[in-house]
Amino acid sequence: MAGLKWTAIATAALPLVAALTPEGMLGAPRRSEVIPNPTGEWGIFSSTNYSWEDHAATSVWNLLNLTSGEYDYLADGSEVAEIAWLGGNSSTALVYLNGTNEEEDGGVSLYAADATDISGAALIGSFPAPYAGWKHVLTPSGDVHFLVYCLAFENGTAYNPDPEYEPLNTARVYESTWVRHWDTWLDDTRNNLFKGVLTADGDSFSFDGNLTNLQVGIKNISRAETPDRPFGDSTNYALSPDGETVAWWTRNIDIPLANKTSAYIWLQPFDIGYSANPTFSHDGTKIAYFQMDSDYYEADRNKIYIANADVANPNITQIANDWDRSPSGIAWANDDLSVFVQADDLGHSRIFEIPADAPADFQPTNITGSGVVAAFSILASDDILVADSKVWSSRDYYVISPEGEVITELLKANEEDEALAGLSEADFREFYFPTPNNSALQELHSIMVLPAGFDESETYPLAYIIHGGPQGYNGNSWSTRWNFKLWADQGYVVVAPNPTASTGFGQALTDLVQGNWGGTPYEDIVACYEYIGANFPFIDLENGIEAGASYGGYMTNWIQGHDLGRKFKALVTHDGSTDTRAQYSSEEMFFIEHDNNGSFLDVPENYDRWSPVNFYENWATPHLVIHNSLDYRLGETEGLHLFNLLQEKGVPSKFLNFPDENHWVLNRENSLAWHSEVFGWVNYWSGLSEVSPFHGSTSVTPRFDRGGGGPARRRRWH
Ligand SMILES: *[C@@H]1O[C@H](CO)[C@@H](O)[C@H](O)[C@H]1NC(C)=O
Ligand SMILES: *[C@@H]1O[C@H](CO)[C@@H](O)[C@H](O)[C@H]1NC(C)=O
Ligand SMILES: *[C@@H]1O[C@H](CO)[C@@H](O)[C@H](O)[C@H]1NC(C)=O
Ligand SMILES: *[C@@H]1O[C@H](CO)[C@@H](O)[C@H](O)[C@H]1NC(C)=O
Ligand SMILES: *[C@@H]1O[C@H](CO)[C@@H](O)[C@H](O)[C@H]1NC(C)=O
Ligand SMILES: *[C@@H]1O[C@H](CO)[C@@H](O)[C@H](O)[C@H]1NC(C)=O
Ligand SMILES: *[C@@H]1O[C@H](CO)[C@@H](O)[C@H](O)[C@H]1NC(C)=O
Ligand SMILES: *[C@@H]1O[C@H](CO)[C@@H](O)[C@H](O)[C@H]1NC(C)=O
Ligand SMILES: *[C@@H]1O[C@H](CO)[C@@H](O)[C@H](O)[C@H]1NC(C)=O
Ligand SMILES: *[C@@H]1O[C@H](CO)[C@@H](O)[C@H](O)[C@H]1NC(C)=O
Ligand SMILES: *[C@@H]1O[C@H](CO)[C@@H](O)[C@H](O)[C@H]1NC(C)=O
Ligand SMILES: *[C@@H]1O[C@H](CO)[C@@H](O)[C@H](O)[C@H]1NC(C)=O
Repeated sequence: MAGLKWTAIATAALPLVAALTPEGMLGAPRRSEVIPNPTGEWGIFSSTNYSWEDHAATSVWNLLNLTSGEYDYLADGSEVAEIAWLGGNSSTALVYLNGTNEEEDGGVSLYAADATDISGAALIGSFPAPYAGWKHVLTPSGDVHFLVYCLAFENGTAYNPDPEYEPLNTARVYESTWVRHWDTWLDDTRNNLFKGVLTADGDSFSFDGNLTNLQVGIKNISRAETPDRPFGDSTNYALSPDGETVAWWTRNIDIPLANKTSAYIWLQPFDIGYSANPTFSHDGTKIAYFQMDSDYYEADRNKIYIANADVANPNITQIANDWDRSPSGIAWANDDLSVFVQADDLGHSRIFEIPADAPADFQPTNITGSGVVAAFSILASDDILVADSKVWSSRDYYVISPEGEVITELLKANEEDEALAGLSEADFREFYFPTPNNSALQELHSIMVLPAGFDESETYPLAYIIHGGPQGYNGNSWSTRWNFKLWADQGYVVVAPNPTASTGFGQALTDLVQGNWGGTPYEDIVACYEYIGANFPFIDLENGIEAGASYGGYMTNWIQGHDLGRKFKALVTHDGSTDTRAQYSSEEMFFIEHDNNGSFLDVPENYDRWSPVNFYENWATPHLVIHNSLDYRLGETEGLHLFNLLQEKGVPSKFLNFPDENHWVLNRENSLAWHSEVFGWVNYWSGLSEVSPFHGSTSVTPRFDRGGGGPARRRRWH
């Protein structure tokens, strides 16, 4: 075992030219999807960058010419929270939500404006709470029917957390499961949908201030929540094209939410009071949506349904049922004869067109190729406006024909952003490796990402990265949390395989992880490792490292206790699982009960079989453990459990904690510190750096000077 006195081997020459740096990657613009105007001439997108001198983000809205790709500043992103095109006869009229409200702290306000002269905006409404998720329809009468959502009390009143309400004590009492979720302790507020009307008033609109909660006192739903927290958004609800009907999705909240995923879509006239993405056809007669068969498995296959927008005769039909993909985004073609969907597909996420009456055996063809689609819209011309990302570009905008022919390239972040300069498709490779013992597929997919200045005659240590989920995938996308190109540019060849459990390769591969966490996926990961050794002489396995978050952290801990663990110089676990029995302190019980084939009360042995801590005797490889305090998915005690045992065994190890981060690290300053610690750790053990990651400190590491250029950084622990 490599100990503390291990000395660095001769280091591979670090390519310093045009390498992606943590500061560059974290500070570079983060761009939204594009919202096209009704005529398809203009688009709006937001862009947020970060200054390491000011320690502050700058956010702007831009107006994009959808023919030329040229764009200009439209509005200040710190003031304007959301923008929507008004529609109707004007191609440039807008409405926007201003994130502040002069009359009511914590409220927002509504403005009408024209994109060609936004300084002439007119205030038309004041909302006394932090409403969001604006969706509207300009009705034939000229009035605007709109929907927004906000946290609300059980009596339907919207909740405004500001002005601050100070309770006399902080007790939280629960009488059933569903106590906390993701990073939030649940209280007596839930997201609810509200409707309002803007009345046509000459050239502008007037608003009577009446926002009506659509989700109190209806049918047998004791308490709906739309959108679902924390990841739900305005795709959880829709307004019909005539503005007269609302479709909304809620979990079935009359049953235990912590262990069921079932959900319903409700249809509601605008004037009273596990399915997903209800989407109206343009003629308003149909709704397309997704639904999974299982009511306790969030990674089951999304099937595509078409229903009449008529509760008396819903006539629900399923289309392309045999297609072995699980789509997410959905949009109707302009003629309502087909839908376009987006689905994970072989390490990418691609767009497919499916006729609205497609038979079960219809197999759609992808109309996009490389990259992971973030969002798409159907333009008036029938062409499709796409926003995606790739390993080499944080955001690309382009327009394709319905057949997939690229019509206009509008923006490529790697050509636009200084921090991304020099990144290209040549940095990215894919390969398939044979699996000796896999019942779902004979070959599995992996991606490979190459460092700057890559020279096939040199060798580079392996950075082996295992994805989370486990139902997820390593794909051709940009991430600001696990950015493969950033890892590679430290001097590694990154290999990120898609073992059993991965999505986008058929449901059988995904489902095979059930009751099998450390089984087939581990064997696949070993098979890929062996394939690398046999096929890629430019990868140095002697000095390789392995890392993963969430299930990838679980797998790292499993690897530490098994033979593969002895092959790496160092390991990194971010918010992983150490003792699988402890997953009962998680919030989504449906997840663990699915993946362990039942409740602990019935099959306790399933919770024990794949528990990494059972193999503590073998632990020997230097291990960095990261676990954040707001992670309620896997509590921070999982990381402490691992770290404390590693320390008692004398295995070189380090513990990193962010008290203000959840399962992820989102704050850019925290993320910079995360990268500093993680790269400091793996670069030392892999021999890319001689700087010891140990500083004799038992608490926080007050260190940001990693050498090299760049602006001096102030410490920001708080
Ligand atoms: C961030 O974006 C703003 C507006 O586009 C620009 O003025 C500024 O120079 C950018 N700052 C950095 C650090 O990139
Ligand atoms: C957008 O760009 C095209 C091509 O340069 C130009 O012809 C057109 O006038 C622009 N559109 C608007 C609305 O300015
Ligand atoms: C947003 O509202 C604030 C005050 O409520 C106002 O000062 C500011 O000009 C508004 N900005 C825009 C773009 O409407
Ligand atoms: C659009 O223009 C037509 C014809 O001028 C007019 O009849 C109609 O009322 C306008 N619609 C709206 C929403 O302004
Ligand atoms: C609804 O309940 C909240 C919290 O108990 C309370 O503050 C509010 O006044 C109630 N609203 C109405 C209309 O009763
Ligand atoms: C607000 O709107 C609701 C639903 O449209 C209606 O029943 C109610 O009377 C309105 N209240 C006021 C004060 O206008
Ligand atoms: C609520 O009503 C729906 C639709 O009628 C029904 O399917 C469901 O079983 C009901 N739920 C309860 C808890 O009664
Ligand atoms: C779900 O929750 C209910 C009530 O808490 C409980 O009786 C049941 O055993 C749980 N598990 C499953 C798999 O339904
Ligand atoms: C139901 O939908 C199917 C398939 O689109 C169609 O053939 C059938 O006529 C519809 N039935 C009714 C009652 O609308
Ligand atoms: C569809 O995907 C394949 C890879 O599976 C790719 O080669 C092809 O270019 C894609 N089609 C389009 C139109 O992008
Ligand atoms: C778990 O359930 C799956 C599917 O129902 C089954 O194939 C598998 O054998 C079960 N595994 C265990 C350990 O019970
Ligand atoms: C194949 O997989 C099964 C289940 O994961 C495991 O029990 C068995 O040992 C594996 N066989 C080989 C040859 O790896």
